[in-house]
Amino acid sequence: MNIQLLNKNISDIKADITAEFLTPDTLKEHAEVKILNQAGFKAEQDSICFLHEKGLLFCGVASKKIDDIRSASASVIKALKASNYESASLSVIKNNSLTGIVEGIILGGYEFNEYKSKPNEITLKEISLASNELDYDELKKTFDEAVIISKATCFTRDIVNTAPQELNPETLAILAAKLATDNKLECEILGEDRLKEENMNSMLAVGRASIHDSKLIHLTYKPANPKKIISLVGKGLTYDSGGLSLKSAASMVTMKMDKAGACAVLGMIKAASELKLDVEIHAFVGAVENMIGGNAYKPDDVLVSRNGTTIEVRNTDAEGRLVLADVLTYAQDNVKADGIFDFATLTGACMVALGQYTTGLMGHSHKLKHDFSKAGSASGELIGSLPFNRHLKKLLKSDIADISNVSSKPYGGAITAGLFLDKFIKEENKNKWMHFDIAGSAYTESPWDCNVYGGTGAGVRLMSQYLKNI
Ligand code: BES
Ligand code: ZN
Ligand code: ZN
Repeated sequence: MNIQLLNKNISDIKADITAEFLTPDTLKEHAEVKILNQAGFKAEQDSICFLHEKGLLFCGVASKKIDDIRSASASVIKALKASNYESASLSVIKNNSLTGIVEGIILGGYEFNEYKSKPNEITLKEISLASNELDYDELKKTFDEAVIISKATCFTRDIVNTAPQELNPETLAILAAKLATDNKLECEILGEDRLKEENMNSMLAVGRASIHDSKLIHLTYKPANPKKIISLVGKGLTYDSGGLSLKSAASMVTMKMDKAGACAVLGMIKAASELKLDVEIHAFVGAVENMIGGNAYKPDDVLVSRNGTTIEVRNTDAEGRLVLADVLTYAQDNVKADGIFDFATLTGACMVALGQYTTGLMGHSHKLKHDFSKAGSASGELIGSLPFNRHLKKLLKSDIADISNVSSKPYGGAITAGLFLDKFIKEENKNKWMHFDIAGSAYTESPWDCNVYGGTGAGVRLMSQYLKNI
C-alpha cells in the first residue's frame, strides 16, 4: 500500500472512496448529518461509518488534535483494509494533523505476515492525501519526515516480532551490519573473544548457557558537523527464559520481545540517518540469550563487571541490568557523549507502576526529564517519570559483593533496577544519562492507539522527536 501527498484539493483527487474526520460538533453541520444520524453515527473517537453509495467514509474524532487524529487514522486504515476499495483520499487539515495521519495510516496499517502461509489479501493500493491549498512545500517536508519515522518504527517492530529461533544474537548482529551498509553507518561487532578481552564478564555470564555467541553491536552515524554526540544503549535479550531462576510457563511467552530496547535503538539510528540530522549517534546493543544449561550462570555467583564493580547474582531473571551494566560502561569508555540514553524491557514492575502503555523514565537530570516529556507529548508516546531515592538505593546492598542484582524488598522494582544501572554511570555523566523502561510499552497483545498486535516500536518516535529538537 502506497501513501502519497498531492498538491491538490480533495475534490480534484480521483479515488474509490474519500475519508473524512468528524467531531461531534462538525457532524451537526455536515451535509450528510441526516443519513449519518440514521446510521447511528455519533462521531465518537475512532468510530467508523461508511456511506458506500456516496463513496464516503467517516471517522469520529474527539478533537482535531494530533493524538486523536493519529488514533482515528489507524481506525480508518483498518476499515479500508477490511473493505474492497483500491484507492482512497483524505484531506489534510493542518500541518501537525498530517503527521498524525501518516503515523496512524502506516503504523495502524502495519501487519507482520512473515509466518502466515496465506496472508489476508488487501485490495487497497493507494491513499492520497490532499494538501488543500495549504503550503505544499512545508507539508511535503512534514510528510517525508513522518514517513521516515513511521517506517523506522515498523523496522523496529519487524525485528521485535521475528521469532527467537530465527532472531538470536548472531542474526541480530548480521541484521545490524546490513542496516549499517544500507544507511552508510560505521559498524563494529564484538564476539565473545573480544568481549572477554574487554572484561565484559557480567554480560558474558548471562549468555553463557546459550548456543549462540553473545554480541556487542556498535553502529555510528556521523554527519559532517554534528551539534551533539548521543549514545544510545539497547537491551537485546533475544530470548529471556529467566535462566536458572526460570520464568513460569505463562510469563515466558512473549519473551522474544526482550530485545525491544535493542531493536528500538536500531530504529532510532535508522531514522536519524535518513532524516540527515546534525547529531552524531552511537547505537550500542548488548545482544544476548538468557538460557539454562550445565554452564549457566547461577544465583549465588559473584560477577566482576567491566568497571570492576562486583555483583552478587540473586536472580538470573534480573539479567537485563547485568548486560546493560557492561554495555553502559563500554559506551562511556569509548565515546564522550553529550547524552547517554538506554532503552530496555527491564522490569515487570514498571508496568505495575505506570500501566502497560507508558514508558518509565528515570535519571538524575530534571532538564532531560523535562525535554523528554516534551518530546513524548509531541510524538504521542506516553512517558512517566519514576523518582530515584536513597532509601530504595539501600535495598541493593549485598553482604558479599559491591551490589546485588535484585532488591531485598518487593516494591519499587522499576526504580531499583534503574538505581542498579546508575551504579555504572560515571560521576561526570550522571546528568547526561536517562534510562527508559519500555517493558510495558514495547509490546502488546491487543491493539491500542496506532499499535497493532506485537512490537510497537516504542522509543523510535520519541527519540526522533528529541533529536529533531536538538
Ligand atoms: N525481561 C524481563 C522484564 C519484563 C517482564 C519485560 C515482563 C516485559 C514484560 C526482565 O528480565 C525480568 O525478568 N525482570 C524481573 C526482575 C526481577 C527478577 C527482579 C521481573 O520484572 O520480574
Ligand atoms: Zn529476565
Ligand atoms: Zn529480560
